[in-house]
Amino acid sequence: QKVDMELEAIEKGGFEHFMLKEIFEQPKSIKDCFRGRLIANEAKLVLGGIRDYSTALINAERIVIVACGTSWHAGLVAEYIFEEFCRIPVEVEYASEFRYRNPVIREGDIVFAISQSGETADTLAAMELAKSKGAIVLGVCNVVGSSISRVSHEGVYTHAGPEIGVASTKAFTAQLTVLTMIALKTALRKGTIAEQRYREILVDLENIPAKVEKALKTDKQVEKIASIYKDARNFLYLGRGYNFPVALEGALKLKEISYIHAEGYPAAEMKHGPIALIDEEMPVVVIATRDSSYDKIVSNIQEVKARKGKVIAVVSEGDSLIPGMVDHTIEVPGTHEVLMPMVSTIPLQLLSYHIAVMRGCNVDQPRNLAKSVTVE
Ligand code: AGP
Repeated sequence: QKVDMELEAIEKGGFEHFMLKEIFEQPKSIKDCFRGRLIANEAKLVLGGIRDYSTALINAERIVIVACGTSWHAGLVAEYIFEEFCRIPVEVEYASEFRYRNPVIREGDIVFAISQSGETADTLAAMELAKSKGAIVLGVCNVVGSSISRVSHEGVYTHAGPEIGVASTKAFTAQLTVLTMIALKTALRKGTIAEQRYREILVDLENIPAKVEKALKTDKQVEKIASIYKDARNFLYLGRGYNFPVALEGALKLKEISYIHAEGYPAAEMKHGPIALIDEEMPVVVIATRDSSYDKIVSNIQEVKARKGKVIAVVSEGDSLIPGMVDHTIEVPGTHEVLMPMVSTIPLQLLSYHIAVMRGCNVDQPRNLAKSVTVE
C-alpha cells in the first residue's frame, strides 16, 4: 500500500492530482505532438501517418468527423478550420448518433475518428460502419496500438503521453494540434490557402507552447475566482467562432469533475433561451479573445451584464475594453484565431480543477465516469 502510494506520488511529479500535472504538461505535450512534423522555418509539415490518403483528402467532397465528449469538441474546432482553409464541407457527429441513424456515406468520403483512448465503443462502431460503406477512415488517437488506431486506414498519433485524469486536458490540445496540421497541409496542397498565410500560421503554431506556458500563469488568479464561485449551482459558458467549442469544453470539464451543472452555448444563441436563466446568481464564463467575432461577443457580454449576471471573461492580453464591463478578467496571450482554442481553454481547465478541489471532489476519478468508455 505504502509503495503504491509512493509510486503514485512520483507519477504525479509533485502535483497534487494527475489532472493538474496534465494541465501543466501542455506546453511540452503540444511540442511533442508537432516534434518532427512541423518545421516552421522551412514551412514544412510532415505527416507520415496519412501519406497514402493525403491525395484522397485533397479530393474529398466531404469530411465527416466522429467522436465523443472532449474529442467531439476538438472535432468542432476542426470543422471550422477545415472549412475555412480547405473549403471542404465538414460534418461533426456524435459517434453514438451517427452509428444508429443510417447515415449517408459515399465512397471517397473521409471520416476522421478522434479519440484519446482509442477504445471508445461508439467511436469504434461508427468507424466500422463508415468503412463498410466505402469511406476512408483516418484516426487521430493518443494511445499507440489502440483499437481505433488499428481499425483506421491510416492516422496521426497525438503523442501527448499517457493521460490518467478522467477529465481530458492535454489530449484535447494535442488533438487540436494534429487536426490543425492536417488541415493546413491539405489546404496548401489543394491551393486553398495563400502560402504567406500558411507560413504565418505555422510560425504561430510553433509559438503555441510558449503561449500556453503564459496562460498557465493565470493559475493563482483563476484559483481566486474559483473560490468566489465554488458554491454556484449553475454556470453558463459562452463563446463564438473558434471559441464556441471551447465554451462547450469548459462546461463539460466543470460538470464532470465538480458536479456543478454547466452549459456551453454559442453566445448568440443565448437570446433564444438561456438568457432567461441569467440573474445575479449566475456566473457566466465568456471566452472573448480578440478575433473576428470580438465586437459581437462584446455585445453579448453587455446583454449578460444588463441582466446582472456575473461575468468571468477570458480576454486577449492588453484588452482595454472588456475589463471595464465585467466582474473578472483573465488575460491570455493572443495568437491566430484558429489556434486560439489551445490557449483559451487553459484557464477553463484550471477553473474546473480548482472548483472541484475546493468542493472536495475526486478530481482524477469523478463519480460515475471511466477513462475509456468501452460500452455503448
Ligand atoms: C473528457 O473529459 C471526458 N472524460 C470524455 O468526454 C471523453 O472525452 C470521451 O469519453 C471520449 O473519449 P476518447 O477521446 O478516449 O474517445
